[in-house]
Amino acid sequence: MNILGIETSCDETAASICKDGKILSNIVSRQIIHTEFGGVVPEIASREHEVLLNKVIYSALVSSNMNLKDLDAIAVTQGPGLVGTLLTGISFAKGLGLGLEIPVIPINHLEGHIFANFLANKELEFPFVCLLVSGGHTQLWLINGMENYILLGETRDDAAGEAFDKGARIFGLDYPGGPEIEREAVGGNPNKIPFPRSLISKNSLEFSFSGLKTSLLYFMDQFEENSEVSLKDVIASYQEAIIDTLIEKVRRALIHTKVDTCIIAGGVAANTSLRNKISLVIPEKKIIYPDMSFCTDNGAMIAYLGELKFRYKSDYSLKFSAIPNLKLTKL
Ligand code: KG4
Ligand code: ZN
Repeated sequence: MNILGIETSCDETAASICKDGKILSNIVSRQIIHTEFGGVVPEIASREHEVLLNKVIYSALVSSNMNLKDLDAIAVTQGPGLVGTLLTGISFAKGLGLGLEIPVIPINHLEGHIFANFLANKELEFPFVCLLVSGGHTQLWLINGMENYILLGETRDDAAGEAFDKGARIFGLDYPGGPEIEREAVGGNPNKIPFPRSLISKNSLEFSFSGLKTSLLYFMDQFEENSEVSLKDVIASYQEAIIDTLIEKVRRALIHTKVDTCIIAGGVAANTSLRNKISLVIPEKKIIYPDMSFCTDNGAMIAYLGELKFRYKSDYSLKFSAIPNLKLTKL
């Protein structure tokens, strides 16, 4: 079974081919045009998808040694995301699906991030806890099975990815901030500045990152690099505060649910310091994350989940549209 996955929820134009659970190609074109604006400009992102979609899909087919006639279905991100960018992908998918007379399967982007963990970890079994950390979401879920998800806690304000992006802006680094902060933190002392870890209350599984960002703003107002404290120390300490907060909540969630495995999903899962530290702090539990190329937005997670859904149900109506605030559960 050959599934084309299309992802256009934000600023990555991405396409992938999944054949019987295996990813044959994973083409991602990140729109660097947004770097000069310090964040994604929705109108520009939609126009860029329009230009890039053809090329990216063609490239995914060519690197899989396939042509359009080989496709059995198309999976496309329905939400959450920017309405205009989602619509470019959905319209393209519908046009292609109609032309080829094959079904178009709407996919929840967040569910895609979660299931990306099965790509490198085929032995992964339900139930597991999921730390979902992206540019727009920071949530803890108990994943009992396909479409059986229980929300354990989420952020009250900024998402973890947003904390990286806003911090990077304060440091004068480029967008997206996560990889920039990670790179600049190398060689810095993560324990130099005791930035606040907002743990809310003793057993809370909720997150809050706005206080950390404000504390960085005040700190940088006064800060001058000297022989005692380098900018690298500050960046490493800021990153550490985000990571420590995430890890502590995962630890609590695993105790609360009595589950042995936690997966990390979403762009922030690409952070190497988070990956390394979480297993050191919680050595008794199994911590799983996707390969780097499947952490940030990609078409492979959409194609892979599309295939799982298609095996379960094969008739899909074209009567669906973009849902910018699509949730993982209906509640
Ligand atoms: O999942 P994703 O690609 O897009 C959304 O669905 O939002 O996540 C993007 C977020 C951005 O905030 C970006 O700064 C963050 O993931 N990110 C990282 C890293 N790579 C991407 N954060 C920390 N460390 C990274 N290496
Ligand atoms: Zn994402």
